Amino acid sequence: MANLFLSPRKILSGKEALETSGLYLKELGSKALIITDNIMVSTGKVQKVTKVLEENAIQYKLWPGINSEPTDEMVYQGIELYSEAGCDFLIALGGGSPIDAMKAIGALITNKGSLTDYMGKELKKTIPNLVAIPTTAGTGSEATQFTIITDTKNNVKMLLKGAVLMPSLAIVDPGLTITSPATVTAATGIDALTHAVEAYSSRKAQPLSDVFAMSACKRIFGNLRQAYINGSDLEARNQMALAALEAGIAFNNSSVTIVHGMSRPIGALFHVTHGVSNAMLLGACLKFAVEGEGTEARFADIAKTIGIFKEGMTAKDASWELIKEIDKLCSDLHIPTLKDYGVARDEFFNNIDKMADDALISGSPDNTRRKPNKDEITEIYKSLWI
Ligand SMILES: NC(=O)c1ccc[n+]([C@@H]2O[C@H](COP(=O)([O-])OP(=O)(O)OC[C@H]3O[C@@H](n4cnc5c(N)ncnc54)[C@H](O)[C@@H]3O)[C@@H](O)[C@H]2O)c1
Ligand SMILES: [Fe+2]
Repeated sequence: MANLFLSPRKILSGKEALETSGLYLKELGSKALIITDNIMVSTGKVQKVTKVLEENAIQYKLWPGINSEPTDEMVYQGIELYSEAGCDFLIALGGGSPIDAMKAIGALITNKGSLTDYMGKELKKTIPNLVAIPTTAGTGSEATQFTIITDTKNNVKMLLKGAVLMPSLAIVDPGLTITSPATVTAATGIDALTHAVEAYSSRKAQPLSDVFAMSACKRIFGNLRQAYINGSDLEARNQMALAALEAGIAFNNSSVTIVHGMSRPIGALFHVTHGVSNAMLLGACLKFAVEGEGTEARFADIAKTIGIFKEGMTAKDASWELIKEIDKLCSDLHIPTLKDYGVARDEFFNNIDKMADDALISGSPDNTRRKPNKDEITEIYKSLWI
C-alpha cells in the first residue's frame, strides 16, 4: 500500500526563528490579516511579529479576536475583516485556537459557503497562504491539514480537513512559548504526547509518521516536566516546541484515535480546554486500547524509546509500564479531574449518550486498533468519575 506524506511547505524552527522570518514572509503576500488573542498583544508577542512585517514592507491588519477555542461566529467575523481590509494572506500567532481559526477563515475565503457544508468532506480549493506561529507546544496545528471549530448551534466541535489547510510557512520559535503558564504548558504538552502515542498506535500509522511520533515521545518524556517546573528553561521549551511539531506531523500522516474522538465532545459541551480533556481521558483510553491487535508491540516500542523497557519484559509488561509512566506524568503535571474542573457530575452523566454518539460520528475512535462500540465508550466516560 502506498502512503501519502504531507508537511508544511516551509518550516523555520529554532531560537530566534521569528526574527529571521522576513525573507520567507515576503514571498507570501503583501498584506496580512494577523489572527491572534489579547494575551499575545499584552505580552508583546504581536509587536515582535509586526516589527518583522514592517522591516519587510508588508502591510497588516491586526485582529486579536480569538479569545477562547474558535467558534463558527469568530470565523465568519474574520472573513469579513479580511475582505474589508484588502488582505492577501493570513498569519496566526498564538496557540492552536488562533491557528485553527486562521485555517477555517482561509478555507471559506475561497471555498465559500458555511463551515457545516464541509463536515466530513475534504476542502479542495486552494486557499490564501497561511503562516502559523505557535506560542504553545501542543496542538501541532502548524503542521496539520485539520482545523477544529465549535458549531455553536449544535455544541459540536467540527473537524474539517484538506491538504489545502496545510500552512505555507510554520515559524516554530521556542522563545514565544516562554510565557506560557504552567497549566497551559502541562495541558498542551499532554496534547502533543497524545498525538504522538495515538499516531504511533493508530491503524493508519505509516513508516514515515512512525519516525516523527517516536522522536516526539522521546523529547516529551525528556523535557515536559522541566518545561512545566521551570518555564524559562529555553532548551526545554525548544525541545517541546520541536516535539509538538513532530507529533503534529505524525498524526497528520497517520491519525488520532479514541482519546481525541472522546475528548472533543467534553470540550464542546463543558468547555474543558483541549489538552486537559485529552489528559483526563488518556490513561483510561490507553487501558482500553492496549488490547487491540498489535497494540502491545507498538506500546512496547514507545517504552523502549523513552528508556523504561527493562530486560526480560514482555510486550505486555512494557505496555503496562508505559501506561503507568503516562499516568505518573499526568499526575506530576497536576492534571485536574472533571470534578476539579467544576463539571457537574449529573450534567456530565446526562450528556454521556450524546457524547458517545458525537465521538463515534467523528470517526477518530475507529482508527484505534481495538475499535470501541458505543457501550465501551459510555463505560470509559463513566469511569472518569470513579
Ligand atoms: N488543528 C489541529 O490539528 C489541532 C490539534 C489539536 C488541537 N487543536 C485545537 O487547538 C485548540 C487549543 O489550542 P491550545 O491548546 O494551543 O490553546 P489556546 O490556543 O486556546 O491557548 C490557551 C491559552 O493559553 C494562552 N497562551 C498561549 N500561548 C501563550 C504564551 N506563550 N504565553 C502566555 N499565554 C499563552 C492563550 O492566550 C489562551 O488563553 C483547540 O481548539 C483544539 O481543538 C487543533
Ligand atoms: Fe490534540
